[in-house]
Amino acid sequence: MHHQWLLLAACFWVIFMFMVASKFITLTFKDPDGAFSSIEEIPENIVHDHEKNGLPRLSSFSDSEIQKRLNLYFKFFIVRDPFERLISAFKDKFVHNPRFEPWYRHEIAPGIIRKYRKNRTETKGLQFEDFVRYLGDPNHRWLDVQFGDHIIHWVTYVELCAPCEITYSVIGHHETLEDDAPYILKEAGIDHLVSYPTIPPGITVYNKTKVERYFSGISKRDIRRLYARFEGDFKLFGYREPDFLLN
Ligand SMILES: *[C@@H]1O[C@H](CO)[C@@H](O)[C@H](O)[C@H]1NC(C)=O
Ligand SMILES: *[C@@H]1O[C@H](CO)[C@@H](O)[C@H](O)[C@H]1NC(C)=O
Repeated sequence: MHHQWLLLAACFWVIFMFMVASKFITLTFKDPDGAFSSIEEIPENIVHDHEKNGLPRLSSFSDSEIQKRLNLYFKFFIVRDPFERLISAFKDKFVHNPRFEPWYRHEIAPGIIRKYRKNRTETKGLQFEDFVRYLGDPNHRWLDVQFGDHIIHWVTYVELCAPCEITYSVIGHHETLEDDAPYILKEAGIDHLVSYPTIPPGITVYNKTKVERYFSGISKRDIRRLYARFEGDFKLFGYREPDFLLN
């Protein structure tokens, strides 16, 4: 139960981000050296660090405070094609892997490789195939527990954001972010205070070539198991079944 709240809460930092966005200029974002004067100045490593960023997770509140926020706050999250999301998580966390998040490469990747690598003589770092086999394993929870809340980057939206339990004000799509981001700011009533940064052209568009490239060479069995786990995310948020990978 605690674990569930922890995941759920990860979704909510965005809400708080927006709740406080209007006050950003003067307060709220705390770090050891003092407040930042604008969103742009917040270093990337602090954005997700709830100990330091002054944006508490929902799980850090009492039940009544949680309920109050669920009832009163503007609540939204943004989804993207589930397989593109996994590719993006894989690239960000295991290929580029920023200095301030060493645990992905040094703890999580070796853990996945130990359990899921097919070719025992292969010594490369985590491959997308290993990642897919871990995610599609019906017993993935065994490792998830060890990885703690780092799994928020690849756990299903259904598990992470509880869309069936929480009445969200808006659920946006990465693929239509150019429209959805300004819409969300407007609906939240803060469009006169903040604007979404310029989105580089083309980056929100679903890229089938990229998806095919990442999944090429991975067995149909493993891809189907992955799909079985993420099917809820595909169906719930209007994404077509990737039949070009499954059949
Ligand atoms: C396993 O990995 C090694 C090292 O990369 C490679 O030489 C070998 O061909 C691979 N075996 C299979 C069955 O893919
Ligand atoms: C799609 O992905 C491929 C492979 O990663 C890349 O070469 C191509 O530029 C991408 N297309 C677009 C429109 O971004």
